[in-house]
Amino acid sequence: MFNIGSYEERVKDFSWSIAEKELDYKDGDVINIGWYCTDRICQQGKADKLALIWEGKGGKEKRYTFNDARLAANTFGQFLRDQGVKPGERVCLFMDKIPELYFSFLGVLKMGAIAQPLFSAFGDESLKVRLDNSEATTIITQKKHVSKVRRILADMSYMKHVIMVDYDGRSPLREREVAFDLESATPVEDFTCEPTFAETPSVLHYTSGTTGQPKGVKHVHYSLISQYLTSKWVLDLQDDDIYWCTADPGWVTGTSYGIIGPWSLGVTQCVLDRGFSAEEWYRFIEKHRVSMWYSAPTAIRSLMKAGDELVTKHDMKCLRMLASVGEPLNSEAVIWSEKVFGLPFLDTYWQTETGSMMICNYPGMKVKPGSMAKPFPGITAAVVDSDTYEEITEPGQIGLIGFRPGWPAMMRTYWGNEETYKSKFKNGWYIPGDRATIDKEGYFWFVGRDDDVINTGGHLVSPFEVESALLEHEAVAESAVVSKPDVVNMEVVKAFVVLKAGFDPTDELELKIMNFIRKKLSPLAMPQETEYVKNLPKTRSGKIMRRLLHAQEWGEEIGDTSTLENEDD
Ligand code: WT7
Repeated sequence: MFNIGSYEERVKDFSWSIAEKELDYKDGDVINIGWYCTDRICQQGKADKLALIWEGKGGKEKRYTFNDARLAANTFGQFLRDQGVKPGERVCLFMDKIPELYFSFLGVLKMGAIAQPLFSAFGDESLKVRLDNSEATTIITQKKHVSKVRRILADMSYMKHVIMVDYDGRSPLREREVAFDLESATPVEDFTCEPTFAETPSVLHYTSGTTGQPKGVKHVHYSLISQYLTSKWVLDLQDDDIYWCTADPGWVTGTSYGIIGPWSLGVTQCVLDRGFSAEEWYRFIEKHRVSMWYSAPTAIRSLMKAGDELVTKHDMKCLRMLASVGEPLNSEAVIWSEKVFGLPFLDTYWQTETGSMMICNYPGMKVKPGSMAKPFPGITAAVVDSDTYEEITEPGQIGLIGFRPGWPAMMRTYWGNEETYKSKFKNGWYIPGDRATIDKEGYFWFVGRDDDVINTGGHLVSPFEVESALLEHEAVAESAVVSKPDVVNMEVVKAFVVLKAGFDPTDELELKIMNFIRKKLSPLAMPQETEYVKNLPKTRSGKIMRRLLHAQEWGEEIGDTSTLENEDD
């Protein structure tokens, strides 16, 4: 029997108090995610149960029980306190998927600071804009990434502590740097968590929009209520599950469902801190007897490409549930997974801002391959008209997805940008910026984004960020960045470049420009193709018509030019 029982029944008399009761939480009580994920699980008699099975590069393996996790989080929390880090300060976590990342995340929450996880592949510039915005006082990092921090530290007066978790003493520590070694530190047995409340900020995740700098999505401790219940009902996590979430905690999936959800349920999870390889992934599942696997469409498409034979070489019978998030999950991928694993990937739709799953397929419910299925119980979702923001009730009509605000994990604002936050609400709906249709049976079908943001392999890339980086190069007069189709990543970044007079459109120059922007951008945002053009299509007021270039790349009808002229405003 699945945790959710019957979806229809759960929808009928839903209240978030179901999760509150299970978590022994009442309105006004102290609620601390770090405590819920460790101390409470230990109190429930699971202190010796495995919390984390970790595999690093070169096959290194480490295992931690819930008591180990509790002590590690305490030790981090105490160290931060001893450094003088105060509740409410932002602590940036800039590490690979090493155990320290997971435990420092909980330690930060326990001592009441705000965790700001950033993807460790970010270069100096990507790191700096996000730190400048949050004004983090502390960054926890590793040897291999500290050089990036060092290069920008002089310009970051707000940054007080650079904590290195694997300092080997080979070269001296510099100003503001301090070493912390989890393995040799004396474990802190007794730690009093900061008494955080429902609305105390917990996590700050950065996400890219079409314009402007990346936005810091502010979440609060109360998000636990949503993350706990969705992990229980959608991922169906059970006590004896071995769970694997393939996402990096630099992104919201990796924290909401790679730390908070599973551990608040006392479930064992595994982490593979290595690059993607189909062979490796199957070996990992087989070795650790993974039973519940939460991944992303690009990874699934890469596995499909690696072939069915590879799957049959491994024993995959341990798997009982598969789910996916991040980009459209095409029906082929669902059909394929049914064929090779005997299980469909259950698509889940949500975003950094929503903090928890919103529209999902549920275990036991009919899967329509290609559909995101239905709103989580308690979530009011609709498709609304893009001009009036009135609900569209006729099945099959395309509109904007809208959610009635008020679920526990919803962002509370964009850090220092209340105006943009407010602009996301229209006519009483929160508008995530995606288009969809609803069929006669109430199933949601994703149509596309409503803006120019590129979703490459599940990562959002702002065309504006890439264009800005390009424009900083001395040879570039103008640029426009759009997506183009890609078999594995669904879409990849393509840049159109107009050169300044006196520069020749050579391959050599292209390489130079790419090397120049590589330092500024996340590797995920790098253009896969660059095309020199003499000029860019523009509106009369001079706005670049990305939509026209996009249509060209996707072989779509360019359509009515009058609509393009409407962009003139
Ligand atoms: C955007 C949010 C939620 C964690 C990862 C992404 C797209 C997300 C789906 C899905 C089609 C999806 C949307 C959304 N997206 N899930 N199941 N089907 N598109 O978080 O980086 O905030 O991106 O990803 O466009 O708005 P994110």
